[in-house]
Amino acid sequence: MERLPPTSFKFELYQWHKSFGITILLLSFARLSWRLTHPVPNLPETMKSWEKAAARFTHIAFYFLIFAQPLVGWIMVSASTLGIDTVLFKFIPWPHVPGISPSEGLEDFMKQVHHFLAFSLIGLLVLHIGAALKHHFVERDDVLARMIPMVKRKES
Ligand code: HEM
Ligand code: HEM
Repeated sequence: MERLPPTSFKFELYQWHKSFGITILLLSFARLSWRLTHPVPNLPETMKSWEKAAARFTHIAFYFLIFAQPLVGWIMVSASTLGIDTVLFKFIPWPHVPGISPSEGLEDFMKQVHHFLAFSLIGLLVLHIGAALKHHFVERDDVLARMIPMVKRKES
């Protein structure tokens, strides 16, 4: 990868990308702690067992990805031979992953994993949003409505 001057727009975009990515990582810890201590409503009984299994698989995969993707990005920049610091939102210095020293091999591998996970995330999102719309407009159940506080529910 080329070394960009810290004043360039592209350099700034990378810093913004890292800032939002690390924020997602921190929020994911908050979300997982909430999820593990609060029950979620059951899926509708009308769903077939393969649909319930697909929903569970997708949700677990999302929980995995919201941790794995930013962690992999963080390892990637920590292993980078360019040695660029991460500064969140222009003023919070963020360390590299402790114990990781610059390595072109590790950086390249993490780059490939980051690429693969990004496309897995996009693929699952298409499926996830499609399923949410099917619940709402085809099945006409409350699954989408109960995720959005402003939307009025049909049941309960
Ligand atoms: C949920 C969080 C994240 C998502 C969804 C995400 C997504 C992406 C995507 C789609 C790309 C382009 C990949 C490609 O075309 O190969 C990318 C590249 C990159 N990401 Fe992330 N990212 C996340 C978090 C992070 C974090 C936390 C860091 C570092 C602290 C990071 C560092 C990078 C870097 C340096 C690149 C450029 C890699 C290259 O040179 O090809 N990302 N990311
Ligand atoms: C337009 C975007 C999205 C829509 C419309 C949407 C909709 C929904 C709906 C309707 C549910 C079902 C909740 C229930 O069973 O009551 C759900 C659950 C879930 N969604 Fe999304 N979602 C979206 C984006 C995302 C994104 C970006 C992620 C993560 C990367 C995500 C992760 C999850 C997870 C993990 C669950 C399961 C929640 C749990 O059991 O803790 N969703 N979503």
